[in-house]
Amino acid sequence: MRKLTNIMVTGGAGFIGSNFIRYLFDRPEFKGTIINVDKLTYAGNAENLIDIDKIYGKARYFFEKTDICDLEGIKRLFEKYAMDTVIHFAAESHVDRSIFGPKDFMETNIMGTFNLLEVVREYWRGREDVLFHHISTDEVYGSLGETGYFFETTPYDPRSPYSASKASSDNLAKAYHHTYHVPVTISNCSNNYGPYQFPEKLIPLMIQNIQEEKPLPVYGDGKNIRDWLYVDDHNAAVWLIVNRGNTGETYNIGGENEWENIRLVHVLCEKMADALGKGKDHYKELITFVKDRPGHDRRYAINCDKIKRELGWRQSYDFGKGLDKTIRWYLDNLEWADRVRSGEHRKWMEQNYGER
Ligand code: NAD
Ligand code: DAU
Repeated sequence: MRKLTNIMVTGGAGFIGSNFIRYLFDRPEFKGTIINVDKLTYAGNAENLIDIDKIYGKARYFFEKTDICDLEGIKRLFEKYAMDTVIHFAAESHVDRSIFGPKDFMETNIMGTFNLLEVVREYWRGREDVLFHHISTDEVYGSLGETGYFFETTPYDPRSPYSASKASSDNLAKAYHHTYHVPVTISNCSNNYGPYQFPEKLIPLMIQNIQEEKPLPVYGDGKNIRDWLYVDDHNAAVWLIVNRGNTGETYNIGGENEWENIRLVHVLCEKMADALGKGKDHYKELITFVKDRPGHDRRYAINCDKIKRELGWRQSYDFGKGLDKTIRWYLDNLEWADRVRSGEHRKWMEQNYGER
C-alpha cells in the first residue's frame, strides 16, 4: 500500500504542476502534505499558488526553491520532509527553446531526473510503500503520418532536443526500476491547455496576441496536428496512476482530440471575437504563416485505451468548453500574463510576499 503522505512535487510552480497542486487541494479526500520543489526558471511562478499558500502554507503546503540538479539540496529536502512520494513535473518544456539552446534541457531533464532517482534509490532502499512518478510526453514516440497512434509499446523515436532529453529521462526511470527496484510509474501525455500556461505555447500565445491585435505566427503550412487535453484531465489521470497504477508500468494519456494548428487558430480567433464583441472573422486577418520550426513533428495522436481499461480514467472536458474556460481565465488575468512575460512576476512576488 502506497503511503502518499509527504509528496514532493517537482516543477510545481509551472503550468501543469501548479494546476496539479490546486487539483489535489480541491479534493476533500486528499489529506497529504505537498512539498513543491521548483527552481523558478522563467516558466516557474510561485504566484500561481498564492491562494493555496494562504490556506495551507506551513501546514500542508511547503514551497522550496531548489534546483533538481543540486544533489545535496535534494538530499537535504529528503532529510527535512521524509518524502514517500515524488511526482516529477520539473523540466525545460518548450520545444522551440530546445532547438535554440539545448543545454538547459540536457541538464534539467536528464541530469536533474538522474539526481532525483539517485536520492530515492538511497533513501527508499527496500521500501514498497513509496513511489516515483515520472511525467513525460507523447513526443518521445516521434512523429506520425496521416494514420496510426502512439501506444505504450511504440518504439521511442525522439526528434527534437526536448523530446530526446525526455526520452532519456524516461529510460533512466525505467532503468532504476529494473536494476534497483525503485518503485516507478511513468505517464506520456499529449498537448495540455488551460490556465497558467506560459504564453509561449500555441494556445496562450494566440490568445495573448489576438487580445493585443498582434500577428498570429503559424509555423509552416499550419497543417501539423496535435492532440489537445485540458490540464485537469491530465492531472486526474496522474493522480489515478499515483494511487492505483502498477509499479513499473507506463500509461499513455491523451485527449483523443486531434486538431490541425490552423483550424485551431481559426477557432481561437472566432471565440475571442465572440468574447470581445468583434465580427466573426475580425482576428483571422492577423494570421501570419511564418518559417517552419526545424524538424517540426507532423502529427501526434495518443492511444490511451490502457489507462481507460485498467484504471477507469476518462477525459471529462469537452474541447469547446475547455477553450472557453481557458480564454475567460486569460482575459481575467491579463496582468498575470504581462508579469510572467516580462519577468516582473519575481519582483511582484518579492514586493507582495517576500523573497522566494
Ligand atoms: P513548464 O515549463 O510550465 O513548468 C516547468 C516547471 O519546472 C517550472 O516551474 C520551472 O521553474 C521548473 N523547473 C525547470 N527546471 C528546473 C530545475 N532544474 N529544478 C527545479 N525546477 C525546475 O512545464 P509544463 O508545461 O508544466 O510541463 C510539466 C511537465 O509535463 C514536463 O515534464 C513536461 O515535459 C511534461 N509535459 C508537458 C506537456 C504540455 O503540453 N505542456 C504535455 C506532456 C508532458
Ligand atoms: O505533445 C506534448 C508536448 O506539447 C509537450 O511535451 C511540450 O512540453 C509542449 O510544449 C507541447 O509541445 P508542442 O511543440 O506540440 O507545443 P507548442 O505549443 O509549442 O506548439 C503546438 C503546435 O503549434 C506545434 O505544431 C507548433 C505550432 N506553433 C507553435 C507556436 C508556439 C505555431 O504554429 N506557432 C507558434 O507560435
